[in-house]
Amino acid sequence: MYCLVYMSSPTSEMGEDEVQDLLRRAQHNNESNDITGILIHDRRRYLQYLEGDEAKVEETFARISVDPRHRAIIRLHGLTISRRQFPGWAMVCQMSKAGGSLKAAVEPLVQNCDRDVADNLLKFAAARDQAASAEAARSPAQ
Ligand SMILES: Cc1cc2nc3c(=O)[nH]c(=O)nc-3n(C[C@H](O)[C@H](O)[C@H](O)COP(=O)(O)O)c2cc1C
Repeated sequence: MYCLVYMSSPTSEMGEDEVQDLLRRAQHNNESNDITGILIHDRRRYLQYLEGDEAKVEETFARISVDPRHRAIIRLHGLTISRRQFPGWAMVCQMSKAGGSLKAAVEPLVQNCDRDVADNLLKFAAARDQAASAEAARSPAQ
């Protein structure tokens, strides 16, 4: 079992309908590819975790990474894991409040994960929260 995590920024703000369309498509494709995972979205960023067969996950990520709906894609890691962490979720989407903490959005989702997977996801989210608050301090919202 293989997992991949990346972060990106939406190209433009997506409406609720657009997010739902994206999610439906992702769930449909992921079900056929036996991929599960989570997508966290707070209007300014995406954090996505994908798990499944390595070739399938890489194939899916290759498709996602050329999608014009997001940019500044940073691949955080790809590694082997001992078991599927999100067996029930072809792709669950958690919306976090704009300006809210990404870490707080991740926390409830990783309750049943292996410690190392949960810690990594929380670490990425916390690093992004820190970067966002540093950015906000430099250029306060108009
Ligand atoms: C933030 C984000 C996350 C996405 N996640 C997935 C995903 O988990 N699985 C997937 O198949 N497509 C995902 N997509 C959509 C793909 O980029 C692409 O549009 C889609 O896979 C094309 O599938 P189709 O040819 O069946 O329409 C995502 C797109 C974005 C912007």
